[in-house]
Amino acid sequence: MPKPKNEFHYLSLQLMEVKLQDLEDFRKEVASFSPQTTDELEAFRIRFLGSKGLVKSLFTAMRNVPKEEKRIFGKKLNEFKAFAEKSYEEAREQLSETEKEEEGFADLTLPAEEQPLGSLHPIHIIRKEIIHIFEKIGFSIAEGPEMEDDWHNFTALNLPSDHPARDMQDTFYLSKNPDTVLRTHTSSVQVRVMEQGHLPIRIICPGRVYRNETISARAHCFFHQVEGLYIDDRVSFADLKQTLYFFVREMFGGDTGIRFRPSYFPFTEPSAEMDISCLICGGKGCTVCKHTGWVEILGCGMVHPNVLENCHIDSEEYTGFAFGMGIERIAMLKYQINDLRLFSENDIRFLKQFTGAG
Ligand code: DAH
Repeated sequence: MPKPKNEFHYLSLQLMEVKLQDLEDFRKEVASFSPQTTDELEAFRIRFLGSKGLVKSLFTAMRNVPKEEKRIFGKKLNEFKAFAEKSYEEAREQLSETEKEEEGFADLTLPAEEQPLGSLHPIHIIRKEIIHIFEKIGFSIAEGPEMEDDWHNFTALNLPSDHPARDMQDTFYLSKNPDTVLRTHTSSVQVRVMEQGHLPIRIICPGRVYRNETISARAHCFFHQVEGLYIDDRVSFADLKQTLYFFVREMFGGDTGIRFRPSYFPFTEPSAEMDISCLICGGKGCTVCKHTGWVEILGCGMVHPNVLENCHIDSEEYTGFAFGMGIERIAMLKYQINDLRLFSENDIRFLKQFTGAG
């Protein structure tokens, strides 16, 4: 008889009909068993554990095993039997669980499934960041209603009903006479705060606004703004500029270029728009900045005396500045997002990229 290579080999030479190597193959078969139906489960039971099954016949075959090897073989066989029985039981339980689930059965004793953690929405992150920056220099937060009357959204802001600048914004009307609108800008909150008459005022007003625009990559029927307002005696355009310089430095970094362009808003005089150097191309010119090197981020100006008077503030004694910016615009520049629609589509693949460090 040749010298045995190992225990398996030795035994398998001895036991022609029952090879330990076979036992190992059966073991693999059992280990990979995962029945999808009760029929498959039953077929498994019959094959391995039934009265004419493998385990039974292997025990019968033990008779032919020489005495001195019985102990080793018996041990292996018992292990295999236990393994097959355990696998069968587990598979049976698993299958009945699945069936219960499919029938809508809920086992309330089971531990709860782990809920994946969400992340902050990019608009929320930027909103928080803007608020944080202005809070550092003494601004507090004011909010107002999204359904607004004509007075607060237009008339008090120096836009009487026949004013052509009303056409600058396409308005959603909720009712006519008296007019109720979905606010087209957060400037309406300025009016509400000024009307309260507590001076000085130093506020920012974050909120959602609505415009009747066709939805595209660059326009949406709702978006978010942050309005700023500072009213006191001797507030000047220089204060406005310093405040906005501070904001840009904090938001986009100290290397960002800033420029003011004269503009027109009915509620400010003088009015300006503020541009920053394009963050995408660094001012060299690209499609985002339309090859100018600059992108507009907000409108601003000195509060028009008519607006102060409409809100019972003496325009001889007080002056103020105001500004308004779109949160989406800031977020698009900061995160280099080129389609406004992504913010409101709730695509989880987009949203989960923002970790909310703001
Ligand atoms: N309300 C303006 C808009 O929605 C933005 C704006 C411009 C606000 C100038 C201001 C301002 O307070 O001074 O387009």
